[in-house]
Amino acid sequence: MTHTLRKIVFPAAGLGTRFLPATKATPKEMMPIVDKPLIQYGVEEALAAGMDEVIMVTGRGKRAIEDHFDISAELEANLHEAGKDALHEKVSTVARMVDMSYIRQKHAMGLGHAVLCAAPWVGDECFGVSLADELVVSDVPAMKQLRQVHEKTGASVIGLARVPAEEVNRYGMVKAEDENGLLRLSEMVEKPPVGEAPSDMAMIGRYIFTPRLFELLKNTEKGAGGEIQLTDAIARLAKEEPVYGVLIEGERFDAGNPLGFLIANTILGLRHPEFGDSLRAVIKNNL
Ligand code: UTP
Repeated sequence: MTHTLRKIVFPAAGLGTRFLPATKATPKEMMPIVDKPLIQYGVEEALAAGMDEVIMVTGRGKRAIEDHFDISAELEANLHEAGKDALHEKVSTVARMVDMSYIRQKHAMGLGHAVLCAAPWVGDECFGVSLADELVVSDVPAMKQLRQVHEKTGASVIGLARVPAEEVNRYGMVKAEDENGLLRLSEMVEKPPVGEAPSDMAMIGRYIFTPRLFELLKNTEKGAGGEIQLTDAIARLAKEEPVYGVLIEGERFDAGNPLGFLIANTILGLRHPEFGDSLRAVIKNNL
């Protein structure tokens, strides 16, 4: 087994029911925050963490993701001829950013199943998993924060954030103990009822796993919501080998639902060098 971590899986085959009808024909990962789709933020973060072998697990709307990261010769030529150099640069950069592979998850059987679909491509290596609808804005890219602990330990590492007590039923919640300054995880529960979470620390869609996870996913039964839950396989992994948690330093936006998406767009819009001042003026006038 090698610890050279370059592979990263982006599960993007969920049904996005919280965001219907917007997600009827478009994966939620293609929803834009200001001027870039969520998935592009995720891929940029992965690249900044040195993870440049990217696989998308897609369902409906696969074409939109593929086209986004593909070269569009006609669009590039049009922008070039029209002298729109800045836009040309943006469009050509995203097309040449990274080589991507795509795997189809034919039925949305859960996040655990989506990750398992990537097993043949990953092979016997450690790998990252990133959920692009969880947008993290941070000085040190979130995946890099995980990578630093992985490089010290060679173990699986999970990105965490503290969440309010009334929100624990929206997340996979963990229990952690201090182990020489690292958070060693001992328990994981998917979406526990309020008042029953093992701590206030939630998994927020950034993971590094040893390939052992795949073996466990293969015989993980359907769990909460009738889906094959990644959380259940992680809980079993943590019983066999060390799994560490990292409280991610940065701002987190749960952009996979309409309110979180609006908040992300508003905050990043207000900070945007080109649109920020105009947006602030419009919001003030409408308060
Ligand atoms: P979510 O539960 O946030 O996504 O899954 P969802 O199921 O699309 O959304 P709702 O709950 O219906 O609104 C977390 C991540 O796992 C992926 C999603 O695309 C998202 O990135 N996923 C989930 C899959 O790829 N396949 C699945 O079967 C389920």
